[in-house]
This record gives sequence, C-alpha cells and structure tokens, in this order.
Amino acid sequence: MQLLQNKVKEEGIVLSNQVLKVDSFLNHQMDPVLMREVGKEFTQRFKEHNVTRVLTIESSGIAPGIMTALELNVPLIFARKQKSLTLREDIYVEKVYSFTKQESNEITVSKKFINPGDKVLIVDDFLANGEAAFGLARIVEQAGAEVVGIGIVIEKAFQPGGRLLSEAGYRVESLVRIASLEDGKVTFA
Ligand code: G4P
Repeated sequence: MQLLQNKVKEEGIVLSNQVLKVDSFLNHQMDPVLMREVGKEFTQRFKEHNVTRVLTIESSGIAPGIMTALELNVPLIFARKQKSLTLREDIYVEKVYSFTKQESNEITVSKKFINPGDKVLIVDDFLANGEAAFGLARIVEQAGAEVVGIGIVIEKAFQPGGRLLSEAGYRVESLVRIASLEDGKVTFA
C-alpha cells in the first residue's frame, strides 16, 4: 500500500535493527485518514470471505481494526491484556509471550462476542514473531469460529511471524513489509 509505505518512509524512526517507531501515525498519535484507507484496503483484500467479526488486541490494533470493521459493517472486538474481572468461565484466555518486552501476558475475550460459525478477520498493527496473532487465532478456534485471514499494517518480514502464520495455514495480508532496519534505514521487502 503505497500511501502507507510513504508514511513509514517519511515519519518512521529506526530505533534499532529490530524496532521501528511509528508513534506519529499508529502507536501514539493516530492518523484517522490513513487508518480509514487501511480499513478500505483490508476490506478489499478479504471481502470475498463474508467476515462477521474483526478481532484485534489493545491498544494499537484498535484504530486499524475499527476502520476495517466500519468498512465491513461488522463489530470489532479487541482482546484485553489486563486480567479481566469477569468470571473465568465467561472468557477465553490465551497466553501470549512478547519477545519485545520479554514477558508473558494473558489476553482475554468475553465468550459473548465470538460465536461458533463466526468468520473472523484478525487485524493488528505490527507483525514481528507472530505471538499476538497466534494467540488471537487460538481464541477464535476455542470459540468454534473460523479465522478467515490476518491483516497486518506493518510486517517486519525479517522476523519469523509472517512465515510461521502462513505455514500454519493462515492467509496473511500485510500492507507494508519491511525487509530490514539495518544501518538506521528502512528497506522495504
Ligand atoms: P509479536 O506479537 O509479533 O510476537 O510481537 P512482539 O511480541 O515482538 O511485540 C510486542 C509489542 O510490540 C506489540 O505491541 C507489537 O505490536 C509491538 N511491536 C513489535 N515490533 C515493533 C516495532 O518494530 N515497532 C513498534 N512500534 N512496535 C512493535 P503492544 O505491546 O501490544 O503495544 P500496543 O498495541 O499497546 O501499542
């Protein structure tokens, strides 16, 4: 997606060989016009699947997620990272390990919001090792629903998440793929 690639080029800050900072349009300040285009693009790519729910994870997945859900005219659900106060039997729980933060988080979704037979599109802002996407997919499968695909705003293609998800049989659509962050610059795949 050229618009997004230009934005990454103009505003992305390479923090290290592993980490790209995009807090001016995605992770802190958010660009609603760009997010609307992201939503349209995911809708275009997954429209043949009759998606019934979009699923993301708080917090930075919510902006691309809600714009996609708006365009598809379906609800957005975001998995929560904090411990839920709801009774454990009312929620789906999965453990997600973050390599970036070197810690494990529990992510939860209320059983009310994903039903057997739902066709779920997973959307997230970044794809690195794929832990978050795999955790979300396991929740969908716990619910007896189907993952129709995974839409990613920025994939770091030098990390294994995209390959691992594809090998597991998921269709992954990334709007921008980064081949490398070496030498302080962004190289697109
Ligand atoms: P993984 O899910 O693909 O395995 O990713 P990982 O554990 O490495 O990432 C944990 C968090 O860091 C996620 O956000 C992810 O979106 C984000 N992240 C990973 N690589 C980058 C990067 O290069 N740049 C930026 N800006 N973020 C990255 P999170 O902790 O859930 O944060 P948030 O959604 O609350 O903002």
